[in-house]
This record gives sequence, C-alpha cells and structure tokens, in this order.
Amino acid sequence: MMLDIERTLIDREAIAERVREMGGQIARDLERDLAAEGAGQDHGGRVAIIAVMTGALIFTADLVREMPLKLSLELVTVSSYPGSSTMSKGAAMRSVLPKDLRGKHVLIVDDILDSGQTLDLVKRLVEEQAPATVRICVLLRKLVPRVVEVAADYIGFDIPNEFVVGYGLDFDGYYRNHPEIAVLRRPLVGGDA
Ligand code: IMP
Ligand code: MG
Repeated sequence: MMLDIERTLIDREAIAERVREMGGQIARDLERDLAAEGAGQDHGGRVAIIAVMTGALIFTADLVREMPLKLSLELVTVSSYPGSSTMSKGAAMRSVLPKDLRGKHVLIVDDILDSGQTLDLVKRLVEEQAPATVRICVLLRKLVPRVVEVAADYIGFDIPNEFVVGYGLDFDGYYRNHPEIAVLRRPLVGGDA
C-alpha cells in the first residue's frame, strides 16, 4: 500500500519538532490569557480543544501531549470530500458541537487549511456559543486561493498545491497511518477535477 507514495514532503522528525514548538507556543498563549483573567492553575476547566475528525486525529493526539495544561478534548466530524474526490464540495457538519463553550478558550485543530470551508463552518458554529476566545491551529496550510477567507492562528507548514496524505490525511479513507506527509503517485489522484 505504501508503494503508492511517490515522495515525502515533510518527514517524521520535522513534524515532531514543529508539533513540539506549536504545542509549547499555544500553551503559553492560553496561559497568558488565563493569567490576564486572574484565573489560577485550575481555571475552572475553561480550555477546550476541538479536533476536526478524522484528519486531525493524529496531529491532535501529538499536539495536546505537548500542552501541559488542564484542557478538555472534543471531537467534531465535518465532511468535505465524498469518496475518492480531491476537490472540496463544501463543508457539512456530521456531528454536533459540544454545547458548553460559553466563556471558554477554544482551540480548533485541523490537519489542513485548503479551501477554508471546513474551518469557517466550525469557527462560526463555535462563535455562536460566545466563547472567551477562539483560535485555529492547522498542521498544514495549502498555498491556494481560499473559497472562504479564514485565518489560522497557528500553522505548522505552508505547502504547495499538491494533494498530500499521511499523519492523519487520507485519500479515499486510506494512508492516514503513513507517518510522514507525502505525495501520492500521479495516476491515483486527480481523477475528478
Ligand atoms: P477545506 O474545507 O477545503 O479547507 O478542506 C479541509 C479538509 O479537506 C481538511 O480537513 C482535510 O480533511 C481535507 N483536505 C484538504 N486538502 C487535503 C489534502 O491535500 N489531502 C488530504 N485531505 C485534504
Ligand atoms: Mg478534514
């Protein structure tokens, strides 16, 4: 199966180092917000991480272990690519958001910012609940024009406009377990433009 991989874009060591940096920075930023509010170490449990399934599964698992602070971990499912498509058909919620985000510091985590539709949708739904802050963290940001303008606060890597797999990202549901960010062999992707 991994024979379908054409080349590595970002290797394991580079991912691990960047995830460590990002986790540290995010934790420091959240602690600064909480301290500014006069909140103590416990802060009433007001830090919520929302991971966008399934792509952010592996990234989030590594990221939160680099964030030494009290937090809750929530999942939302958003679909954008039906089947083996590689073109976003717009984002749709496939699960409900947690209902208790009011006054919390929310971090939305996704694998990649591409057209922007997924993160725009999740962010708008989170904002409806009047959280204290909302931040967006992505491992990858594709250098393409966005369908919807949405700014990420934390970006692991900017990548060119190529379809990538691995470290959580899939093609037709597969390759999420590939430990690196990689490009698939040409004939496999690009059949639906
Ligand atoms: P957006 O809504 O177009 O920004 O797309 C975001 C979603 O599409 C991400 O959560 C990914 O799951 C998926 N996606 C976008 N680009 C790629 C890619 O190159 N490989 C795999 N999944 C991707
Ligand atoms: Mg996704």
